[in-house]
Amino acid sequence: MNVAASEFEVDAWAISQFVMRKLVPVVGSHPFPLHELMLMTGAVCRLEPREIFEWGTHIGKSARIFYEITSHYRVQADIHSTDLPDDVEHREHPHADRGRLVRGLSRVYLHQGDGLTTSLELWRADGRKLRPLFFVDGDHSHESVLRELTGIANEVPHAGILVHDAFYQSAEAEYNTGPYRAIEEVVAVWPGRYRKVHSGLGLPGMTLLYPASPAK
Ligand SMILES: C[S@@+](CC[C@H](N)C(=O)[O-])C[C@H]1O[C@@H](n2cnc3c(N)ncnc32)[C@H](O)[C@@H]1O
Repeated sequence: MNVAASEFEVDAWAISQFVMRKLVPVVGSHPFPLHELMLMTGAVCRLEPREIFEWGTHIGKSARIFYEITSHYRVQADIHSTDLPDDVEHREHPHADRGRLVRGLSRVYLHQGDGLTTSLELWRADGRKLRPLFFVDGDHSHESVLRELTGIANEVPHAGILVHDAFYQSAEAEYNTGPYRAIEEVVAVWPGRYRKVHSGLGLPGMTLLYPASPAK
């Protein structure tokens, strides 16, 4: 990887090998297709976060992906994964299956609460470390994602942010474009702050926002 480059760049051949040999045997290619697994890997390699905050946990697939990436590339990051409390209704709530794929793993901490609120509390309590990485994969309505991205951008301007389900399907199609629109709106509020890498290709889609200038 070229960490000094002004443009986002990783060694896509090396990352392909890792995704094929290490990630796919553990997590498959659903709900994260290969190009999204590559973007998750590239984001961690490029941004080298010391903390990763993600929601929702569900069965723990994305948390497991971050665990495998940080282990393989020796990125010393704690992974905090939050899902809703058991008594909160959500059609995707995993209940007893919550975090099944990461139970017992070192460096992975499971929490219950609202993802944004819990993650920001943890980040503050742990000394507001520079350059955390957030993975936003909870409720995918436009309102929820806009609230979450705005909350991160207001308080942690140097954070990297990965957003899942961010594909922009053509206007006449049925897919939820809420996350895509929320990203565009947040980027417009802080012109010049973020650069964007989108997985492209197709559903569900993932976008990385990363700070245009390195954090001091
Ligand atoms: C699409 S699933 C996440 C998939 C998961 N990241 C994976 O790797 O398989 C959405 C999850 O977000 C949770 N969720 C919804 N709203 C949330 C919120 N405000 N805070 C935390 N989790 C939330 C749901 O309970 C559900 O488990």
